[in-house]
Amino acid sequence: MIAIVFVSRDGSRRTATAEEGTTLLAAGQADGQPLEGTCEGAMACATCHVIVDAADFARLPAAVAEEEDMLDLAPHATRTSRLSCQIRLAAALDGMTVRIP
Ligand code: FES
Repeated sequence: MIAIVFVSRDGSRRTATAEEGTTLLAAGQADGQPLEGTCEGAMACATCHVIVDAADFARLPAAVAEEEDMLDLAPHATRTSRLSCQIRLAAALDGMTVRIP
C-alpha cells in the first residue's frame, strides 16, 4: 500500500493509503477528499487539481503537454500543481503530501 498525506483547505492533514497502480485521484476520492474528477482522467476538466508538496514534486514523472495546458486553466495553480488523475501511485511516491487547492 502507498501512503498519501492530504492537506485540506483548512490546513488539516489526513493520511490515506491506496494500492499501488491506483490514480491519486481515485485514492483521494476513496478517502472522501473533494476532488471531482469530472472528466474521469481525460485531461479535460482540471477538477482533480492538487498542489504537490515542493519536496515531493521531483519524485513524480513529468507532466505531458496536455496536462500542462489544462493546469494553465486551473484556479489557484502553482508551480507544483498536477492533475491527480494523471498520477499513478508507485512505491517511489510513498508518503507524498498533496494539498487540495
Ligand atoms: Fe479531469 Fe483529471 S479528472 S483532468
